[in-house]
Amino acid sequence: MIIAIDGPSGAGKSSVSVEVARILGFSCLDTGAMYRAVAWQAVQDGVSFDDAEALGQIARTREIEFAHEEGNPKPVGVSIGGADVTKAIRTREIDHAVSPVSAVPAVREALVAQQQRIGNAGDYVVEGRDIGTVVFPGAEVKVFLTASNEARAKRRVLQNEQRGVGSTDFDEVLADIVRRDELDSSRAASPLKPASDAVHIDSSDMTMQEVIDEVCALAKKAM
Ligand code: DC
Repeated sequence: MIIAIDGPSGAGKSSVSVEVARILGFSCLDTGAMYRAVAWQAVQDGVSFDDAEALGQIARTREIEFAHEEGNPKPVGVSIGGADVTKAIRTREIDHAVSPVSAVPAVREALVAQQQRIGNAGDYVVEGRDIGTVVFPGAEVKVFLTASNEARAKRRVLQNEQRGVGSTDFDEVLADIVRRDELDSSRAASPLKPASDAVHIDSSDMTMQEVIDEVCALAKKAM
């Protein structure tokens, strides 16, 4: 079974995905981490963000792996081409690099194929931007999770503080979120948009627990 959770950054997709997966005994797939890993490799190799051919080549050939820990639905690490990039993909530099990289159709094609392979192997909560529309259009549950810009920036600052990586300046994070939303929503290849059959949840004035409960209820209804 696939539970697709799409929405803009900072809406709470990651926290909700992990807890829903823990409750239901599913695994989690963070597709944003895969785009971030390709962006990291591009920066590392000095590949220009205009070079669609070279970016596609990275996505097709550098293996992205998630490190799992027994009993934990959330992977404890991510690597690309054998390099551990768990922390390195959360920096502001990669926040900036990932939008142009994820707009390249050849990159998307390669990563979508990998995501489908992973998800088809078990029960997954898959979070991203195009999961309900492109990656798993037949997902049993589709959620489009949003929140106000301010609520999302506040949560992202908190998350960055906890992770010890990324900006913790509210205004800077807010500006980045607005800029990234614009790029993610206006790109030609799989722009961020809700699937026609997705359930919309606005988490601005909800606790994470309320959102988790609602997604679990949707999943149980679909089982
Ligand atoms: O979820 P995130 O913020 O870690 O995602 C990083 C970037 O990757 C985001 O700017 C949009 C892109 N992305 C995408 O285009 N498609 C996905 N399925 C997941 C993420």
